[in-house]
Amino acid sequence: MNYTFSERMKNMNGTATREIFKLLGNPEIISFAGGNPAIECLPTERVKEITADICSSPNFARVLQYGLTAGFPELRELLCKYVETADIYGTKTENVLVISGGQQGIDLALKAFINPGDVILVEDPTYLAFLQLANSYEGICKGVKANDDGLDLCDLEEKIKKYNPKMLYCVPTFSNPTGKTYSVENRKAIAEMTAKYGVIVIEDDPYSKLRFKGEYVPSMKSFDKAGNVIFISSFSKIISPGNRTGVAVGAPEIIRKMEIGKQGTDLHTPNLSQMITYEYLRRGYLEPDLKKAVRIYGEKKGAMSDAIKKYMPEEFRCTDPDGGLFIWGSLPERIDMVKMLPEAVERKVAYIQGSVFYADGSGTNYVRLNYSYANLSQIEEGIARLAGLFKEKLAK
Ligand SMILES: Cc1ncc(COP(=O)(O)O)c(C=O)c1O
Repeated sequence: MNYTFSERMKNMNGTATREIFKLLGNPEIISFAGGNPAIECLPTERVKEITADICSSPNFARVLQYGLTAGFPELRELLCKYVETADIYGTKTENVLVISGGQQGIDLALKAFINPGDVILVEDPTYLAFLQLANSYEGICKGVKANDDGLDLCDLEEKIKKYNPKMLYCVPTFSNPTGKTYSVENRKAIAEMTAKYGVIVIEDDPYSKLRFKGEYVPSMKSFDKAGNVIFISSFSKIISPGNRTGVAVGAPEIIRKMEIGKQGTDLHTPNLSQMITYEYLRRGYLEPDLKKAVRIYGEKKGAMSDAIKKYMPEEFRCTDPDGGLFIWGSLPERIDMVKMLPEAVERKVAYIQGSVFYADGSGTNYVRLNYSYANLSQIEEGIARLAGLFKEKLAK
């Protein structure tokens, strides 16, 4: 059979992500490729306890019945309070949509706003799966330069004027892939500038709770006076990615459109998942578990930074994140991380080539290294293996 798939699927390339999951499945390979939370941070005992309580409650049948698309009312109420931890105040349930992970929130925001040919500005580099999703809606992503402060505001304004974009997508805290964080002033300026030009912002925030050093920074949404920022927070990296829960916060008109979009996608987030997240938050488990996770990720990040200092050639440059799950590194431009990946895998270590995070596929000398999944000794060993390969390439 010769299948004639839609035009939009032609733009979708799932290869990079699929390869990552394959590599994670081979226990011999030390993987710095994925973005999985540490296994030791997954709250297995707590979720067992919660699930047992849910299953034995007199209301259990409710969990097995269809639910509301916007989410369990009690969870939505609780989330209005929860987002105050990102300095978002005055949230009402009409501002809140329960989503099946941050990925779905991004998808629904794109579905609500993007027509084929619309321009979407993204930080260069940005979250790979966002680029793929934007492609599926036939949006055109254009990269905006970044600096140590966040987005380069001159470049942002220039590109807004040049492209008249519909949307800006960014991960302002502990970005995937760079691990960098925008300053408070930068967030404020972006919120003001996008409001002035009528640009919708997706503020994607899966990592801000995973801070192991430095000062807390309020969300960009907290500076939103015009109602153009959609804040997307996920419980994947702080409770469980398999449980698929998150929350989108935005103007009621936007949330309503996203809710209608969600009806067509999955009707609602599975009730059991919503209940688990609700009970986990209600019972106060997040705070102590986050303390543990932050300590573990701080140690792992420290181990990776130490190994980089010890083994990497001096040409290797990298970020020094205050939280999140990734270090972003580079070698001189002549070194191609894309071509080198199969050789790294032969040496039983995996990374993600930086080029997949660029809207235009550039950045071939960059690499993203995840430190949350491997254990401390694997981190040292994996960096030593990679450093050996990098040194050989540099010597050629
Ligand atoms: C920046 C960013 N956004 C969204 C997601 C999607 O995560 P989830 O759908 O599990 O919340 C990820 C996952 O790695 C991510 O890094």
